[in-house]
Amino acid sequence: MRCFARGRRSAAALAAGLLMAAGAAIVLPVSPAQALNNGVARTPPMGWNSWNTFGCNINETLIRQMADAIVNSGMRDLGYKYVVVDDCWMNSTRDAQGNLQANPSRFPSGMKALGDYLHARGLLFGIYQAPLDRTCAQYFGSYPGATGAQGHEVQDARQFAAWGVDYLKYDWCSPSGTINDQVARFAIMRDALAATGRPIVYSINSNSIHAKTGPQRNWGDVANIWRTTEDITNAWNTGQTNGYPMGIQNIINVNVPLAGYAAPGSFNDPDMMEVGRGGMNDTEMRSHFAMWAIMASPLIAGNDIRNMDAATQTILKNQNLIAINQDTLGRQATQVSFDGTRRILAKPLANGDVAVALFNQGGSTTTISTTAAAIGKSGSSFTLRDAWTNATSTTTGAISASVPAHGTVVYRVSGSSTSPTATPTPPTPTPPTSPPASGNCQVTYAVSGQWSGGFQGDVTIRNTGTSAINGWTLRWSFANGQQLNQAWNTSYTQSGTQVTATNVAYNGAISPGASVSFGFIASWTGSNTTPTAFTLNGSPCALG
Ligand code: GLA
Repeated sequence: MRCFARGRRSAAALAAGLLMAAGAAIVLPVSPAQALNNGVARTPPMGWNSWNTFGCNINETLIRQMADAIVNSGMRDLGYKYVVVDDCWMNSTRDAQGNLQANPSRFPSGMKALGDYLHARGLLFGIYQAPLDRTCAQYFGSYPGATGAQGHEVQDARQFAAWGVDYLKYDWCSPSGTINDQVARFAIMRDALAATGRPIVYSINSNSIHAKTGPQRNWGDVANIWRTTEDITNAWNTGQTNGYPMGIQNIINVNVPLAGYAAPGSFNDPDMMEVGRGGMNDTEMRSHFAMWAIMASPLIAGNDIRNMDAATQTILKNQNLIAINQDTLGRQATQVSFDGTRRILAKPLANGDVAVALFNQGGSTTTISTTAAAIGKSGSSFTLRDAWTNATSTTTGAISASVPAHGTVVYRVSGSSTSPTATPTPPTPTPPTSPPASGNCQVTYAVSGQWSGGFQGDVTIRNTGTSAINGWTLRWSFANGQQLNQAWNTSYTQSGTQVTATNVAYNGAISPGASVSFGFIASWTGSNTTPTAFTLNGSPCALG
């Protein structure tokens, strides 16, 4: 929601457009080592956030009532633990020592007391702040002050820890700054939170009134959860690609191809839920929840928990879907197939089961079919549990359902075994024709996402030598027809098939044993084989 009019940037972010391209999305899981390893969000966080329903109109009585309702409705015991106080909780000025303060008329008992209230009820405490000079409401002038964290990061992190904060939502909300600026600044708060010693879920948003950088990289090195889109609204389809405001279908289009980034400790965040807020029919509300669940998205309710109708409770309290979402493998469903109407997603689960979503994006009822083999199960006898009806059925392999317009049928498929082909695989890299070169560095090159006409590459350079590398330039040759269009954490040129990637200001030095990573989006025609030879500062670099 917005409580204020705001000019929006055009939604023409190149990467989002590429990621939206029709066709099957194939995304590999990243190495879990890249995920933020701060001990929290090992499964997607669940809870409630004040913004979608209340915007700036919040106070401590409201938050306490909501906390009580979360407990009394049974939602806490189903996993909805984080109660997140969004924008507009703060006083418009810091105190004489530069500390953030609660707005004294809205939160007269103070934020520590609110945290205590939540903790006493078995809940966890979330709060909002912004990395630049102003929060989003302050940016738009709908709330007074300029109390952003810039220059106060360590102080604010300590303040949050002292208040008992368990979750920080950190919201860029400015058109300025490159993606590299964002990475660097978000990392300052990541490190400040870590330095407090308190486990705090770190939730970031890089997209508000900014070029949509959320889908452009794997932010798992920076945050536990990261918004992939502009703000959600309670509508099925607003026609946006990635611009304000986003409907459920629009968000799904952006979020599905990013599946490979999800891992315990780091998840794509398609925004707080609109379940129970009107604007959609029951089928659409169910699809919204089912797709968030299978996409391993944070399940942060945004409705008024004090006044939920039965249909809303049925959705938010669906234990089959919550179990799929909270599965300890921490995988986001990958796309099995998509014909423009029928989208099939599969999520491998820790016990060998696979959850499959049959999602009808079209405007009329249709039959959607797949097979156990296509979703990574092998064998000849399976049980399907329907996540909505809880009914079970058996099959020798066919998985099929009649699905209403905008509906989603979810089955948990068990039996026989999970084949090693559970995850669709990208093009097989051509093996090197000569032994890897040796030297003082090692390169890993991964295609972390691919769609029709484009792919995303993630590159890591490790210093395997004994002295520091001060400034780096990595070169490789693309296959014919591959063209690098956009990159982050590096500056690049491409001449013919020759690509040159050079460090940016903040990541030029690589100490012995350390590594730096960068990523890019490229288009391709013809061959999509991966490069096999790299040089770093003119010398061969081993391919890891
Ligand atoms: C941005 C965020 C929203 C909310 C508001 C608060 O728009 O994306 O989720 O936090 O700011 O002002």
